Amino acid sequence: MLTQTPKGTKDILPIESYKWQYIESQIAKVCTNFGYKEIRTPVFEHTELFQRGVGDTTDIVQKEMYTFLDKGNRSISLRPEGTAGVVRSYIENGMSSQPQPVKLYYNISAYRYEKMAKGRYREFHQFGVEAFGSKGPSIDVEIISLISLFFESLGLKDVGLNINSIGCPVCRKAYNEKLMNYFRPSLEKLCGLCNNRFERNPLRIIDCKEEKCKSITSGAPAILDNLCGECKEHFEGLKKGLDNLGIAYNIDKNIVRGLDYYTKTVFEFISENVGTQGTICGGGRYDGLVEACGGPSTPAIGFGLGIERLLMEMESQGVPIPLPQEVEIYIATIGEIADTYAGKLVYELRKRQIPAEKDLLQKSLKAQMKYADKLGAKYTIVLGDDEIKNNKATLKSMKNGEQIEVALDNIHEEIINRR
Ligand code: HAM
Repeated sequence: MLTQTPKGTKDILPIESYKWQYIESQIAKVCTNFGYKEIRTPVFEHTELFQRGVGDTTDIVQKEMYTFLDKGNRSISLRPEGTAGVVRSYIENGMSSQPQPVKLYYNISAYRYEKMAKGRYREFHQFGVEAFGSKGPSIDVEIISLISLFFESLGLKDVGLNINSIGCPVCRKAYNEKLMNYFRPSLEKLCGLCNNRFERNPLRIIDCKEEKCKSITSGAPAILDNLCGECKEHFEGLKKGLDNLGIAYNIDKNIVRGLDYYTKTVFEFISENVGTQGTICGGGRYDGLVEACGGPSTPAIGFGLGIERLLMEMESQGVPIPLPQEVEIYIATIGEIADTYAGKLVYELRKRQIPAEKDLLQKSLKAQMKYADKLGAKYTIVLGDDEIKNNKATLKSMKNGEQIEVALDNIHEEIINRR
């Protein structure tokens, strides 16, 4: 146990971390391009926020949260997602008095006590975006187009987009009655949780993963066929906006999403490469959440995109990720004087943004050269007493074996000129 990560978590080792850095840099680029600013919120919040924010009829709140009492006897939970914390921050920091829309993004770790499966972890990472204050479908289109351009910037192709509308409290009221009439005769066949959901939030039953519930939910009436006039118009606006940008989509009446806060637009980007659920990214509108958490009535929309699943998709599609910058020069040394000189030389090279390395273990020259090769150094030089005395050394290309004589105080220029 002592030397094992807890189930559902993993280390991101140096052979992988450069991929994460690359993705994070692409995220920052696309978000800046779209005018979204980064927000960082705490890893843990008061449990009540998620009960209210995510919804206490969801699987996440009922079964999956890491909840504990802190030493002051407060109930605290690790964030199972990013939206609730951002909504809390929007309210707490009075962002509703800033010019709207307020457009935010985040890169976070999140925690859910879930059954392990391909692409499903207990600690996972999300890139998310939340936009507050805009009511019409244009911002829905903007957010979806951001994801679409993000995928394009990475070189990903053919990630399917499914959209749906799950209505507002007005159409939901009539629809819930229809749903309850549909489920009432089968209540005994539904799982215990769904029985509980029946009175409180029957829409949740549609999202149940239990096989016995799934066979019943498959024939349930769809909310998309039961929208009020305003929600219908919003959905038409969304489709028109996506058509205008040439973004392809399918309408999937079965998307209800696993969190309680959604209203109107919901969407998912899916691929069969990323595990049983196949969702790389999911999001939607949540026009009632800010108010439900104690803030002013504020329309809002956002999404969460799983980085682990994104990496799986990139790997499946064979999308190349640029390798990290290699060591450009390794300074091998013979003797103590050369070692001291090399210390200064490496420092001067690094000052000029040239990744340089030297021996730190008093290795033999042969071992140093072997190590330089392992590091993938582009160039090496060997420094001994003579080289220092004459201010000259041989710069050797490790790629093609080419050797040239260079002045020691001019190595940086040689390297820069050869880039
Ligand atoms: P979500 O659908 O629960 O939505 O999660 C979003 C994405 O996070 C999923 O599509 C998936 O890629 C990733 N994800 C979720 N759970 C796991 C897991 N156990 N292991 C690995 N990846 C996972 C939300 O979290 C909402 N907050 C999204 C949102 C933001 N809606 C509006 N604003």
